[in-house]
Amino acid sequence: MVIALNEPLDMHLHLRDERMLEIVAPLSAETFSGALVMPNLVPPVTTKEALVSYRERIVKSAEKRDFTPYMTLFFRSDYTPEFLESVKSDILAIKLYPAGITTNSEGGVEGFELIELGGVLEAMSELQIPLCVHGETGGFVMDREKEFIPIYEKLAKNFPDLKIVMEHITTKSAVEALDRFENLYATITLHHLYITLDDVAGGLLQPHLFCKPIAKRPEDRAALLQAALKAHPKVMFGSDSAPHPREAKEAPGCAAGVFTAPIALQALAQLFERHEALENLQSFVSDNAKRVYGVNPPKKEVILEKSPYLVPEIYEGCVVPMFAGQSLEWRVLSAG
Ligand code: DOR
Ligand code: ZN
Repeated sequence: MVIALNEPLDMHLHLRDERMLEIVAPLSAETFSGALVMPNLVPPVTTKEALVSYRERIVKSAEKRDFTPYMTLFFRSDYTPEFLESVKSDILAIKLYPAGITTNSEGGVEGFELIELGGVLEAMSELQIPLCVHGETGGFVMDREKEFIPIYEKLAKNFPDLKIVMEHITTKSAVEALDRFENLYATITLHHLYITLDDVAGGLLQPHLFCKPIAKRPEDRAALLQAALKAHPKVMFGSDSAPHPREAKEAPGCAAGVFTAPIALQALAQLFERHEALENLQSFVSDNAKRVYGVNPPKKEVILEKSPYLVPEIYEGCVVPMFAGQSLEWRVLSAG
């Protein structure tokens, strides 16, 4: 059995910089036509110069493959409308992190008072720059996303013309919120479709499955699966593939992030086939994102074949992927 995917898009990707960028960028560029690149570098991407030079480094690292890095700016509440206008053509969205909630988010926002954030959000709304949000409070780890839903609702209600993307949703509550507000959208990762907290910590601790937001309960995964498998029109694939060097994962104080970019399409094909939903995979991995963001990525056809694929244990001796050393039921036959 063979399927073709056209212009796969990864609408939430961490590419890092320097050596890690050189390792991971070609892996995404091999099978994806484009990706929305997250700005949580050290220091975060907050200026036009940083955006432009980071995009150049990504393009160089992708080694001539047809791949469009769609850039994001790290949200700051003191951006002026003039500044936003000057970077509008360099970005597809702005990413908002609560301070300290995840990897390299220390410079994020301390609170969600509209008096603080309203000026920037109003300007984004007028300029039609979507807002991507890491939606977690500082509460108990399993409740952080659920507690954040009222904040999403407040933002959606107060800025009805602002597209708000709930990034990497992990709960039934977030899936339900999607249908309450026209301007709320969501990305779903590969790993949150496969795992629950049990897979992370139910037996021996699995550091390579540890991420933020943490994987939740079976009923949450079921709600995510339903939304993805039917390719809910407001849901897009965003891997949140987040590479960390092996020694940062297999350590006390394990870094958060699951590295999935090179195996994402194979594992999605496996999942959609098992649930008899292969016909919806194209919408989930591309068409929905093209429509929501209004992008037109470079043509790329990826042919996947149902035949065993042994996932590498590690890439470049540095970064360990999800399903390392395991066999997936689908492999990439060609991409181009
Ligand atoms: O697990 C995560 N890792 N979640 C995030 O939100 C950020 C990411 C990273 O950058 O490592
Ligand atoms: Zn992320």
